[in-house]
Amino acid sequence: MDAIRIYGGKCLDGQTAIQGSKNASLPILAATLLIDGTCEIENCPDISDVYHMLRLLESLGCGVVREAALVRVNTRSFSGCDMPADSVGVMRSSVMLAGALLAKTGRICMKYPGGCVIGARPIDLHLRSLRLMGASIEESETGFCAEAARLKGAVLHLPFISVGATENLLLASVLADGVTVIEPAAREPEIRALCGFLQCAGARIEGAGTGRLVIHGVDRLRPVRYRVPADRIVAGTYLSACMCAGGRIFLKDAPADQMESVINCAERMGAAVSREADGILVTGRDHESVCDVVTTGCYPEFPTDMQSLFMAAMALSGRAGRIEETVFENRFRIVSELCKMGADITVQGNVAHVSPAGRLHGAIVRAQELRGGAALVAAALAADGTSIVTNRHYIDRGYEDIVLNLRALGADLELA
Ligand code: EPZ
Repeated sequence: MDAIRIYGGKCLDGQTAIQGSKNASLPILAATLLIDGTCEIENCPDISDVYHMLRLLESLGCGVVREAALVRVNTRSFSGCDMPADSVGVMRSSVMLAGALLAKTGRICMKYPGGCVIGARPIDLHLRSLRLMGASIEESETGFCAEAARLKGAVLHLPFISVGATENLLLASVLADGVTVIEPAAREPEIRALCGFLQCAGARIEGAGTGRLVIHGVDRLRPVRYRVPADRIVAGTYLSACMCAGGRIFLKDAPADQMESVINCAERMGAAVSREADGILVTGRDHESVCDVVTTGCYPEFPTDMQSLFMAAMALSGRAGRIEETVFENRFRIVSELCKMGADITVQGNVAHVSPAGRLHGAIVRAQELRGGAALVAAALAADGTSIVTNRHYIDRGYEDIVLNLRALGADLELA
């Protein structure tokens, strides 16, 4: 079955190493298309979203070899730009290939990446900006075709911050003719990692990590070996699991400097977190929480990807909580599932009000997207009795071995 069975009530204890970042790996893998030769990507997580991205690169004729966490992409055998629609539809980050392929081949046709349960997730900002860079784009019901002999640098003022649009336009601009300005640019650590990869390959980018990126187009990039940073959301997931289940765990390689808002919120909610040289030590529910109010936002605000994980922790705390979701329009799908476990949560617009349930009980619950699925597992660790989280494939999109890792930390769970 595509599920996880969790026997609740066990505290967590021990250490787990945090995998490489999904949301840094995906744009970096797309960026390899801009480079003629073999790039080596270290610490690349073995998760299904990366698997699909590698299949897409192979469908374009690239040679792809994985040796544990090292992935080699050889673009010398690149043969074209018709990607299988089923792989494009599987994950949204395929749209990142658009900027890279347009820069590389001058023409691309692809299906819209599609929305998911958390929102419509349009790509209007991507397409509008590529038009400003000189691309002619024909749209249809199901997808679009874009053409540009060579993209031109342009000043791109986005109406609001978009991680994906920032990444796509970075990939479109590094080989463009002239200077491109992206503002406001997303400041997520994954953008800084992508800039780091591109700069190692010879791209000229100013303002990495700030809200204003200035890219001076160059004629070519060179193959590089680059290490993907640890995944701050996966680290936050295990931190939340410890807040739910209790206990004390060490998250090796957790990028504490990228997790300030998450750690501050966790401490306000009663956890103890100490920053060590090579990770963070977390003690769940170390003292009474003082404040359970979370508002998501663009980095460095509290990340939307951590919202459902903290909702699970709130549902187990003894205090009322409030979560405001400002990034996606429909990211409270987990509420109905947590309520099946005895949580008392009501939603008004983009605000979820969490009443103090204190305890949850086991239930059969449904993962409907990646982070919500992980949050249900975290809640089930603390619930009284047995839970089953179905649609495990959503969780596998972003988490390596979550069952193995949690079992190694003392949880009692199994694939079902
Ligand atoms: C990235 O998605 C991440 N995905 C998401 O992580 C993350 O939640 C999100 O950024 C916000 O941090 C990857 O990196 C693969 P956006 P993305 O463009 O790029 C709207 C996870 O769990 N928008 O910043 O799609 C959009 O609908 C995933 O790992 C437009 O309206 O996010 C959303 O409401 C989930 N038009 C808001 O902007 C556009 O052209 C922010 O989206 C683009 C976006």
